[in-house]
Amino acid sequence: MDQTVEGKIYVNGDFQECCIGITDGKISNIKKILKGDKHYKFDHKLILPAGIDIHVHFRDPGMKNKEDFSTGSMAAAFGGISCVFDMPNTNPQTTNLQALSDKIALAKKKSFIDFGLYAGVIDDNIKQISNLKKLCSGFKVYIGGTTNSLQLDPIYLNQVFKNISSTNKPVLIHAEDDACLNKHKIIENNLADHFSSRPSICEEKAIRSVIEAANGVDLKVHICHLSSSIGLELLKNRTKNITCGVTPHHLFFNIENSMRNQVFYKVNPPIRTNFDRDILSNSIKNGLIDIIESDHAPHTVEEKNVEFDSAPSGIPGVETIFPLFLYLVKDGKLPFSRLLYSLCEKPAEILNIPKGKLEVGKDADFIVVDFKKVCKIKSERLHYKCEWSPFEKWPAIFPIHVFIRGEKLIEDQEMLGKKGFGRFVGV
Ligand code: NCD
Ligand code: ZN
Ligand code: ZN
Repeated sequence: MDQTVEGKIYVNGDFQECCIGITDGKISNIKKILKGDKHYKFDHKLILPAGIDIHVHFRDPGMKNKEDFSTGSMAAAFGGISCVFDMPNTNPQTTNLQALSDKIALAKKKSFIDFGLYAGVIDDNIKQISNLKKLCSGFKVYIGGTTNSLQLDPIYLNQVFKNISSTNKPVLIHAEDDACLNKHKIIENNLADHFSSRPSICEEKAIRSVIEAANGVDLKVHICHLSSSIGLELLKNRTKNITCGVTPHHLFFNIENSMRNQVFYKVNPPIRTNFDRDILSNSIKNGLIDIIESDHAPHTVEEKNVEFDSAPSGIPGVETIFPLFLYLVKDGKLPFSRLLYSLCEKPAEILNIPKGKLEVGKDADFIVVDFKKVCKIKSERLHYKCEWSPFEKWPAIFPIHVFIRGEKLIEDQEMLGKKGFGRFVGV
């Protein structure tokens, strides 16, 4: 055993005073007492699995003024995330083998943490799916238009699902029906207008198409950033191969709260009503929603600070997702078990990676947390290139140390890790 870690560790759904043994980056043993070549003892702190964020936009290549793979992955690490999955709406878009292998190469050089990549499916590359399957970690389909998006006409959904089927790789869906969005588009001056422009029925319509197209096909489908109560209603009777996720911004914000600088909350799908927010919050508690995903979609302050209607949609969030929810747990609003299931265990299962749980055979990815150390989020202390966060001043608990594959990446909230440490996963 190369290393052992002793403390109050979350194993088998509960905290136990015990030790984990680590060999070659994997958990090789869990026992009451263990002593390896190197022994870490974390008294009075909690040891939790690191988070997995299956939905980030690191903007690399092509939009590095907003973020790049090194800044994005560094921010993720400081927020206790050991593995991210990056979306294909970069420039060039990740829709062919060349773009995919180029992105793998650049991310391998730059990433502080492990990562996977999605291939985007558009009307023109449906026939390439069998080739893309060999290289990508999963697929992304945009049914409706959003920021720099790639689009697939829903008439092709069933064909696409069939082409992807019989792999363990999921297809993730941005579910807003494009025809419906076009029908409701108005000139927008604020968040309420953005909500009217992209009503819940467009999400419902898209989810309905997805459920129909997936019927009888053997594949994993994930509905991203669910935002409406009627969308969720449709998913209540879904088959087991369909999962869904929610973002922190859809759980924490609603249009009735008159936020200042509303354009900084402009996001797709839109922030909706308090009623929707309540239903989504309850559903993460009762397990109707499977996971939490950040949809980290940074834009610069200059890009956002224009007229509401022409501003890009998207909110950064990869560094704050775990800290915000750790505070909710401390505050008694969410049990530990639900948080660690929806941010660690289930995402790992969807992407089929050996992470997300502290158990023998899994990667030794964990964070050390001092539950007494609550702070207020300050954008200037975050690591995003865009230098802003909609969660400014929100209470949060950031990890003190972060380990990935047994290596100490962050110690006392200082980065020890190096660019290029991150490995490509999920193939
Ligand atoms: C995302 C972006 O900026 O890339 N924007 C957003 O509002 N969520 C795209 C997306 O995920 O829809
Ligand atoms: Zn989306
Ligand atoms: Zn997204």
